[in-house]
Amino acid sequence: MPHKIGIVGSGGVAGIHAAILAKDSRVKLQHFFDVEANRAQAMASRFDGHAARSLEELLAECDAVYICTPNTTHEEVATHVLEAGKHVFCEKPFALNLESATRLRDRSARSGLIYQVGHNRRFAPVYKILKKAIDSCELRPLSVHAKMNRGELANPPWVWNARLTGGFLYETPVHMFDLMTFFFGRVCWAQVAARAHEHGELDDFSILLNFESGLQATMKTYAHASWHFPFERFEVYGMHSTYETFEMERISFTNGLESRTTTYDFSLATMHEKWGYIEEDRLFVDALEGKSLPPVTADDGHNVVELIEACYQSAREGVRVHLRSPVRKF
Ligand SMILES: NC(=O)c1ccc[n+]([C@@H]2O[C@H](COP(=O)([O-])OP(=O)(O)OC[C@H]3O[C@@H](n4cnc5c(N)ncnc54)[C@H](O)[C@@H]3O)[C@@H](O)[C@H]2O)c1
Repeated sequence: MPHKIGIVGSGGVAGIHAAILAKDSRVKLQHFFDVEANRAQAMASRFDGHAARSLEELLAECDAVYICTPNTTHEEVATHVLEAGKHVFCEKPFALNLESATRLRDRSARSGLIYQVGHNRRFAPVYKILKKAIDSCELRPLSVHAKMNRGELANPPWVWNARLTGGFLYETPVHMFDLMTFFFGRVCWAQVAARAHEHGELDDFSILLNFESGLQATMKTYAHASWHFPFERFEVYGMHSTYETFEMERISFTNGLESRTTTYDFSLATMHEKWGYIEEDRLFVDALEGKSLPPVTADDGHNVVELIEACYQSAREGVRVHLRSPVRKF
């Protein structure tokens, strides 16, 4: 029997997941719900499902739910879904402050249900190559520089509003914080300088992260850079080696003083593959099948929120902030 999946929220990212899940024979896309009924109806027509009139109606018909609603709703909707005994895939960010993240993590742990967070970058081919090089010790990261810029805080029209996004770090750079801990392990402290240029919210961050391994990483993130390419990049330095990503299009590396540079280019792959969405959805369905554990857990989501909160605190108070709990379990 296929897994009956419902999708809450019928906007941009819901369309991406629905298009991918619709090709997985293990899944039946069952119901769509959106507070704007016409949007759910459009998705239902496109994917041969039903438009539910309420979240409750959707929950009654599904085994698992994708939550693709705005950031501020994630805890509330996920709590409803868990209380109904259904598995959860919820888009990033996990939550918008530490109290909310802790509540949701603990609720998810008590439920025994699957909870996967939508940190899709982990499954982008360029980042998989980087992660494999680190895990296989081909690359021993000694120093890191990263950036993730946005072009503007104008589109979609609510993205400038920190009350709706949780703040710039929760909207876009949240992906980089997840990757930082995924690649390099536990962050011990963060030191951050930040400024506000528009809309009264901090939108320009210079971040220094110190990891348990001793590794130091710098990260720059700025909200109004134009969409000058690449707006996302990692430079990871080992002993006489450099790995460099160029957006999610390309990764180049030189390993040793005498070695030539190797480049893998994914520019011809589809956006769904390049950005990691196909693999994250496949792994969620694998977890529903009991084949594997979900690859990005509520614990992971919680740890990213803790790191972001530490960065905001450091920026506000001008102090180095030490993290309390491990950012990742190894
Ligand atoms: N992982 C990624 O790469 C990625 C990319 C884009 C968006 N996202 C995340 O996905 C989420 C949705 O983003 P989007 O770009 O699709 O937004 P969107 O505005 O295009 O769509 C959100 C939809 O949710 C509906 N909605 C709002 N509140 C609701 C509620 N309580 N119940 C049901 N429906 C509700 C809205 O009417 C809208 O149709 C956000 O949290 C965003 O951060 C993640």
